[in-house]
Amino acid sequence: MSPKEQLDTLLHESRTFSPAESFRQQANFQDEGIYESALQDPEAFWSAQAQELTWFEDFESVCNWEPPHAQWFIGGKLNAAYNCVDRHTLTHRKNKAAIIWEGEPGDSRVLTYDMLRREVDKAAYALRELGVQKGDRVTIYLPMVPELPISMLACAKIGAIHSVVFGGFSAQALRDRIIDADSKLLITADAGWRRGKIVPLKANADEAVVDTPIEKVIVVERVGAEAGITLHEGRDVRWQDLMASAPTSPYPAEPMDSEDYLFLLYTSGTTGKPKGIVHSTAGYLTGVNTSMRTVFDLKDNDVFFCTADIGWITGHTYLVYGPLSAGGTVVMYEGSPDFPDRDRYWEIAEKYGATILYTAPTSIRMFMKWGSQYVEKHDLSSLRLLGTVGEPINPEAWMWYHKYVGQERCPIVDTWWQTETGCAMIAPLPGLITTKPGSATRPVPGIAVDIVDEDGNSVPPGHGGYLVITKPWPSMLRTVWGDDERFRNTYFGKFEGIYLPGDGAHLDEDGYIWILGRIDDVINVSGHRIGTAEVESALVAHPAVAEAAVIGRSHEVKGQAITAFVTLREGIASSDDLVTELKQHVVERIGAMARPEEILFTAELPKTRSGKIMRRLLRDIGEGRVIGDTTTLADPSVVEALKAQYKDQD
Ligand code: WT7
Repeated sequence: MSPKEQLDTLLHESRTFSPAESFRQQANFQDEGIYESALQDPEAFWSAQAQELTWFEDFESVCNWEPPHAQWFIGGKLNAAYNCVDRHTLTHRKNKAAIIWEGEPGDSRVLTYDMLRREVDKAAYALRELGVQKGDRVTIYLPMVPELPISMLACAKIGAIHSVVFGGFSAQALRDRIIDADSKLLITADAGWRRGKIVPLKANADEAVVDTPIEKVIVVERVGAEAGITLHEGRDVRWQDLMASAPTSPYPAEPMDSEDYLFLLYTSGTTGKPKGIVHSTAGYLTGVNTSMRTVFDLKDNDVFFCTADIGWITGHTYLVYGPLSAGGTVVMYEGSPDFPDRDRYWEIAEKYGATILYTAPTSIRMFMKWGSQYVEKHDLSSLRLLGTVGEPINPEAWMWYHKYVGQERCPIVDTWWQTETGCAMIAPLPGLITTKPGSATRPVPGIAVDIVDEDGNSVPPGHGGYLVITKPWPSMLRTVWGDDERFRNTYFGKFEGIYLPGDGAHLDEDGYIWILGRIDDVINVSGHRIGTAEVESALVAHPAVAEAAVIGRSHEVKGQAITAFVTLREGIASSDDLVTELKQHVVERIGAMARPEEILFTAELPKTRSGKIMRRLLRDIGEGRVIGDTTTLADPSVVEALKAQYKDQD
């Protein structure tokens, strides 16, 4: 389907699903008045939500907004780890499961709040022992093992700022992020498991840390001897040794100012350099805690299964800070959905009686392809709510999720948000809002969203435009690490004092929002944001490549796939081997998620007279709309002819 056809299908979707009476009656939020009252007085709304946290000192004022900088809960003191762990050990939740971890087949571990508290405190002592101070950055490069949330919470406990780098990133990408964050300490593992194979994390880390500020590397033993690693004398320390020798007394949580930074998380933008998105302590925690209760309707007996990796914001918010701050139980899974078999998620959901499942449209489309028999094999009657995130969900995938996973019983919350927003911004409250397949519905209470035209005027129903957030919110990013100018320009450069997420959206006649995807040079591959410029600079770093241009093409399962147009240097011939080599080169520079689906060699890249690459023409070529046989691109006259057709429209 072409993007236009997809859009037409989406905007002609007319099915509606109102919450079942049984769900509505038990929902945390049953009174629609919450929307109006939060709209009238957002500060009062957020101030009330912030009371759900435990404060060491109360805040004096709710919000100070000097665009583009917001401060929330000014004067307050609190600690994120205390809120996620310690305080629950003082209640009936002490021996409740906080994290249920399912490793690759054979492994599992349950940490109650009390056990988690002990682990976090030992790790906090260990970090202090190694010289980590409040405000220092700690880079974490771990697989999906319990030591990952434990490390994050230990950083939070002592007031260090964590920067988690997804385990699928390459040595080079890890290195860039270490240098940008100026981290002195790295926490990694000997290796990880993926589909029964070893992922060489320590080997990547060894390569990444050379000539960086990293002084110490903590190594978690996950795989053991098979990983075949060596420890560097004086630099590397074993996690297990540190934990064994750490004091067992409680570690007193560092009282943090509301606005002290909690973490950095890198995300792609329109330039080659990833941005370190900065989140604050109180605002972030208030936002994520609130959305657990509003959007996810979390109750004390829920078992929340979020399939995201903690290396991305979804995992930070909905595997760690959201559910744990709310005293919930999370299911954390190390492996992939098809190992050992394609029913792995359903097996886990059944085994632990998951009540809420949160996953991505790309996974749902994959499950659809595999067939419903894998779902039907399992008893999923414990499920009561489903969520989706990462990219627009096509109505067909939504309906499949509803029918086979939700058994037509569970409401679906399609949650639109970003690394920068910290938590869900546009999503239904499941007991209140009638859903439409493919629409994230409306902003959550306390969030002011609009869709505007080029001049910043609100579009009327039935029209599309730029999605914007017009008022500050607690969990908004505070800046881009080390580059406040970039923060200003990227998010507040187009409309003054108004946050621009970079997505296009359509408003329907009922006031529902339909997200249409990125409007900048960012591609969404399987729910992962990849900057075209990052892939382009990886490609031109290869000696055979003269120039490269990268576009996103629609893809049945991944949503979008990467197509790269490459011109080679004089005297270099194209070949299938070179295609393979260039793809591998991108994997080594960035990571497997950035591997181009296809590479097309072209005699020249079509450019406008002013020298801008004609991306629309490239997209049309990529989607097969202008020429069928792309090998003809090797002929310069073909590109010239196409350019003439496209004029200078890009
Ligand atoms: C971009 C943010 C938020 C966690 C995962 C991705 C797209 C995200 C949806 C949704 C349509 C969505 C947007 C957004 N996106 N959720 N429910 N419907 N699009 O976080 O890597 O920061 O990417 O993902 O384009 O801008 P991220």
